[in-house]
Amino acid sequence: MTAAKLGLGGHSFIAELGNDPQASFEEQCAIVAACLDSGVGLIDTTYYQERVALGDVLDRLGRRDEAEIMAWNFFKRPGKEGELVGFTPYEPEHLAAMLAELRTDRIDVLVVHVHDDEARLRAELALAARWVSEGRVKRVALGMARPEHLLALPEGHPVTAVLAPYNAFYREAGELFRLAKERGIATIALSPFVRGWRLDELGADKDDAADILLRWAATQPAVDRVIVSMRRVEWVDANLRAVRSGPLSEAESARLRGWLSRGG
Ligand SMILES: NC(=O)c1ccc[n+]([C@@H]2O[C@H](COP(=O)([O-])OP(=O)(O)OC[C@H]3O[C@@H](n4cnc5c(N)ncnc54)[C@H](OP(=O)(O)O)[C@@H]3O)[C@@H](O)[C@H]2O)c1
Repeated sequence: MTAAKLGLGGHSFIAELGNDPQASFEEQCAIVAACLDSGVGLIDTTYYQERVALGDVLDRLGRRDEAEIMAWNFFKRPGKEGELVGFTPYEPEHLAAMLAELRTDRIDVLVVHVHDDEARLRAELALAARWVSEGRVKRVALGMARPEHLLALPEGHPVTAVLAPYNAFYREAGELFRLAKERGIATIALSPFVRGWRLDELGADKDDAADILLRWAATQPAVDRVIVSMRRVEWVDANLRAVRSGPLSEAESARLRGWLSRGG
């Protein structure tokens, strides 16, 4: 399996949602450089703080063109600049703000977070398609999608990928990914470890647990790419080794079944 199967998660750049403290700017630069050096080009940014951080890092490294930047519709909200706030449906003015935060002129994969207002979601997809035609967005993906969102996509929609959390503990997105593949749409699995702290809860050696959980996700036939956040540069190599090791052995599968039977 190639390095391109792995992507770097945006939570690598923030303090929340992880175990380790926030990586310093120098560490963030080292993590992104290690990814790019080893062929891990896809870099996600979910919250606006992550876009600002990645923009700074790529600017320092001078390597914007080597990265495939993915960005979601989580925006800076006045009075809540220091918080992680929920998603907001896209409006025409949002793209310029995202590009400024990322210090770039284009987003490689623009993620539209799903919701159940079908008319609004269609309007967002039409807006995204316009940005594609202008060259400011290269591709469009649906984030946190469920099968019904995929099935409701209108004729001529711009969606080329779907994203959802998918790991050995939470397999609900399996059906979404199967349907997507049937339609020639790429699949991106998020959070192979659920969150980093799940690795600690298993009571197993953490390196072994990370290796087994990442290989489970990366070798699912319906998974094209897996996004992991990494706040330490040494995890780039560890996770690449895991992705390259391929399917689990029978003994490793048995260990995983043991963790699952205990409810993790
Ligand atoms: N799950 C969702 O709902 C969702 C939604 C939108 C986007 N995403 C995207 O998916 C990405 C990944 O999700 P996630 O961060 O929630 O979960 P995750 O990738 O399953 O877990 C990442 C955590 O695992 C630890 N880790 C990484 N490699 C390791 C290794 N080799 N050995 C031991 N520990 C390791 C890191 O801990 P430390 O904290 O110690 O670094 C990190 O916090 C996010 O960054 C984001 O880009 C997820």
